[in-house]
Amino acid sequence: MGKKIELTETVLRDAHQSLLATRMRTEDMLPIAGKLDQVGYWSLEMWGGATFDAALRYLKECPWERLRKLRQAMPRTRFQMLLRGQNIVGYHNYPDDIVEKFIERAAAGGIDVFRIFDAMNDMRNMQAGIKAALKTGKLVEGAICYTISPVHSVDYFLRLGEKLAETGVQILCLKDMGGLLAPYVTYELVKGLKSRFALPVHLHSHCTAGLAPMSYMMAIEAGVDILDTALAPLSQGTSQPATEAIVAALQGTPHDTGLDLKLLSELASYFYGVRRKYAEFESPVNNQVNTNILISQIPGGMLSNLVAQLRQQNAEDKLEAVLRETPEVRKDLGYPPLVTPTSQICGSQAALNVMTGKRYAVVAQETKNYLMGLYGEPPGPISEEIKKKVLGKKEPITCRPADLLKPGLEQARKEIGSLARNEEDVVSYALFPEIAKEFFIWRESHP
Ligand code: CO
Repeated sequence: MGKKIELTETVLRDAHQSLLATRMRTEDMLPIAGKLDQVGYWSLEMWGGATFDAALRYLKECPWERLRKLRQAMPRTRFQMLLRGQNIVGYHNYPDDIVEKFIERAAAGGIDVFRIFDAMNDMRNMQAGIKAALKTGKLVEGAICYTISPVHSVDYFLRLGEKLAETGVQILCLKDMGGLLAPYVTYELVKGLKSRFALPVHLHSHCTAGLAPMSYMMAIEAGVDILDTALAPLSQGTSQPATEAIVAALQGTPHDTGLDLKLLSELASYFYGVRRKYAEFESPVNNQVNTNILISQIPGGMLSNLVAQLRQQNAEDKLEAVLRETPEVRKDLGYPPLVTPTSQICGSQAALNVMTGKRYAVVAQETKNYLMGLYGEPPGPISEEIKKKVLGKKEPITCRPADLLKPGLEQARKEIGSLARNEEDVVSYALFPEIAKEFFIWRESHP
């Protein structure tokens, strides 16, 4: 027994976000768009995540323009984006009206599949996004962020799957941003999700620790429906398993993807060139198997942030101590998955604890906000001692964090005025006020 495995190609989003600091330009996507459109992928992930911010900030490109141009060049393939729940494509919570407008414009611009997640797996941070995305009539994937801790079990993730299924999403996604998923756990999780819910299961992982290709095979054996892969030139390392390898592995089996290896190899020769073009943005650690994360739980991106932070303070010799302290802080904070922004919160607080020589003598504002519940509900209990020490008599919020935010769209519209050429510009400004404005001003003199 078996079924055809479908693939989502990540070469235009996660692959270059993971390997090339999200720097791929639209001009390097368009020449190959027609050929990508012929492959027959289940979907092409090409928007969202860090690409929105990076386009405005570093590339002086309008992300909405990229969406329009790619849509025009690829009429056949489903377009997929990654949405960070209430954080949309940014780093903090936005009010509901901005979440709704963003999703409405993205759907109108051509997004067919919205993958929605929250770093804390707090459903309240996902509900506005899921509701708005379902309203557009497009496909919605509810994502479970995978991590390892004493409070994270197969049962925990399956209960999360149940909450997601209740929201009406059409697909469940198992999202392993750290590449921590091991093959036999993958089997259990996928099997569990498939047997409990009548929904397709989509697996997303990274090769960071060398596990992903093995986990993909076990996921197939457990009945997974869709896998995320990247064309060989932008695969492996901190990116996804290679599309061609998965296609070849399944050829002639009941799971055959039906994709044409010859066509994929034509695409690959194009993208080898693209990878070379962006070589300056490569980091050596992205290109090798790194098993440290399996022991320390500290993902590569977070490690380089910590080193930079300590170097600034001439305290690189404290790195070992900070690396030992980080899992302790994570434990105090109730074991959040280490992904933006929780990875920075744990790392920075660990550094403060080590540098001052006294734990929580100095507390970062983000740590206070976290303890106040502004990032959502942690997976495990927060240390009572730390809570008392930091918050004193203040009580953490118990409502949905975004309930504390006033609507922001009309204010944004007023502020940006005629620099915004359309509704999409207003949304860009509402998300990244300074960066968007800088881009709009630059654009006035660069027609
Ligand atoms: Co990813």
